[in-house]
Amino acid sequence: MEKKITAAITGVGGYVPDYILDNDELSRMVDTSDEWIMSRIGIKTRHILKGDGIGTSYMGIRAVRELLEKTDTDPMEVDLVICATVTPDMFFPSTANLISYKCGIMNAFTFDLSAACSGFLFALQTGAKYIEGGLKKVVVVGADKMSSIVNYDDRATAPIFGDGAGAVLLEPNTEGLGVLDADLHSDGGGFIHLHMKAGGSAYPPSKETLRRGWHTIYQEGQPVFKAAVSRMADVSTEIMRRNHLTADDIRYLVPHQANKRIIDATAKRMGLPADKCMVNIERYANTTAATLPLCLWDYESRLKKGDNLVFAAFGGGFTWGAMYLKWAYDGNIPDKCGEPEDIPLSNNVNNVKL
Ligand code: UT7
Repeated sequence: MEKKITAAITGVGGYVPDYILDNDELSRMVDTSDEWIMSRIGIKTRHILKGDGIGTSYMGIRAVRELLEKTDTDPMEVDLVICATVTPDMFFPSTANLISYKCGIMNAFTFDLSAACSGFLFALQTGAKYIEGGLKKVVVVGADKMSSIVNYDDRATAPIFGDGAGAVLLEPNTEGLGVLDADLHSDGGGFIHLHMKAGGSAYPPSKETLRRGWHTIYQEGQPVFKAAVSRMADVSTEIMRRNHLTADDIRYLVPHQANKRIIDATAKRMGLPADKCMVNIERYANTTAATLPLCLWDYESRLKKGDNLVFAAFGGGFTWGAMYLKWAYDGNIPDKCGEPEDIPLSNNVNNVKL
């Protein structure tokens, strides 16, 4: 009998910009404090991408270049690139298109996926289905330049977000490793509490939309917090139940990094101790679609073949979900990857400034 094909993660790449905005600097920009941000959210620093004309693809390109290099993948062999983002460089072409071009990925089809903080999880499941359907190499990127849509005069949202990108390679596996189950959800009613109103077709940019501040994130913290806590915990415990996983079976929870208190509440409901929970919110803040791959990027060296991971995310939409994944390789990799080398590009893609 033919063995079932699953989609295994076979490599991870990541990138965060050099500039670090810490709580002290933020406290000089807006009425807040290190003490408040640390106790209510758990963030110390966030990385910010500076420079005119530099968008999300700039970070995605660097994450994908590192991924291709680490996995020794020929860019021409990649079949599909999906980029989860809510801060695309531009409406079109897609950010995935720009990333692929600059990475020499010229034989793939590419598209963006919009599901806010659950974007990477939704994209990972989508990529997994393409692998199960016969594709051989799928790159899934989560990347967001949140600083481009944060109102730094609003203390309720300014501390929360940062910029970053992460990417994984998916390849077919017949040993039962990789994506084994996912439980994904959306509830459009949540848009009332969390959205960016203008810039799209409903409210194209105008003097009025600028005056009203509709080009930045609007969030009602409390209802979003409550929904995040209950839905992330519900969906994570459901994925444990239906895969007969106990807390002992799980090596790591890989949670979206929106608020340390939300992460703790999810881990608690799953019965997991703190050392089984990937946490890097303190350094990167909420990088929206990039949080999950940046967790993998940071913890890759500690992962072993066969480790059971549960991913959990919640975000704008509302969107939320959990995934059960068996890790496919031993992380014999330096504990923290440094800056990716600038690998040479094929001649025909060298002249574009991205
Ligand atoms: O990733 C996408 C999904 N998003 C989330 O999951 C975010 C969910 N929400 C949250 O994480 C939290 O609700 C926030 C971090 C956004 C806010 O924390 P909170 O504990 O819910 O604070 P709050 O909004 O209830 O505000 C409490 C107090 C208020 O003052 P009063 O009315 O009690 O005097 C705020 O004005 O804290 C005040 N406050 C601040 N004080 C200092 C709000 N923001 C700040 C601030 N610095 N930055």
